Amino acid sequence: MTISERLHISKVPRHVAIIMDGNGRWAARHGSVRTIGHEQGIEAVRSTVEGAGEIGIDYLTLFAFSTENWYRPVEEVNALMSLLVHAIDAETDNLMKNNVRVTVIGETSKLPEHVRLKLMGCVDRLKNNTGLTVIFALSYSSKWEITEAARKIASDVLEGKVNPDDINNQLFEKYLSTSGIPDPELLIRTSGEYRISNFLLWQIAYAELYFTEVLWPDFRKEDLFRAIQAFQDRERRFGLTSEQITS
Ligand code: FPP
Repeated sequence: MTISERLHISKVPRHVAIIMDGNGRWAARHGSVRTIGHEQGIEAVRSTVEGAGEIGIDYLTLFAFSTENWYRPVEEVNALMSLLVHAIDAETDNLMKNNVRVTVIGETSKLPEHVRLKLMGCVDRLKNNTGLTVIFALSYSSKWEITEAARKIASDVLEGKVNPDDINNQLFEKYLSTSGIPDPELLIRTSGEYRISNFLLWQIAYAELYFTEVLWPDFRKEDLFRAIQAFQDRERRFGLTSEQITS
């Protein structure tokens, strides 16, 4: 029996989020420059997206570029931007064939104009697809997102559109970039680092966390299935007791 056959298809999480980490260390271990690690990372993205589609995940959020990543050496930032453009050119037809939708969360206004336009073209072309939605977090940080939400709420209060007494969880969520998307039930981080790094802080309130030593460029759909198997072996209680969950 393969690992994907061992999964309970009815208990596959609707939304999985991944912190793709370890490209630089992978490159160092292979005696290459960091950009080669990022290039290999694209293979891992391809396999993971394929696997997510195969087992019926609805949403896959990938942390591709953080707000803090802008402070990396300019050559590395430029290499990541051109990789993104190349990946879009190479993969969009295939994503279309597989009924995959792509959306983006993050401060996209900070992306170079040609990258932003390329990305928006891809998002637009795939927007009517109805299968897996891949959400790329690009120029994203959770504190940025939450601050933006607070700013927009404050502005709506000033304009009389929102009454401060009505601000609650549900209303706040409508102002996040993930509005309308269910929270991730599972968050995966690769490369043996045990941090959240400013990713989806609000949305992972009840997510199961899964850490693996595998470096991102080596990650394949079988690793995704292993993470989901571990998720399925856990009991999710949402602050309730074990008895309340099973009764
Ligand atoms: C973390 O590895 C990875 C990134 C910062 C970028 C992830 C990007 C891809 C997988 C390619 C697809 C996305 C784009 C934007 C083209 P790291 O460099 O932090 O590795 P290290 O911790 O070992 O140094």
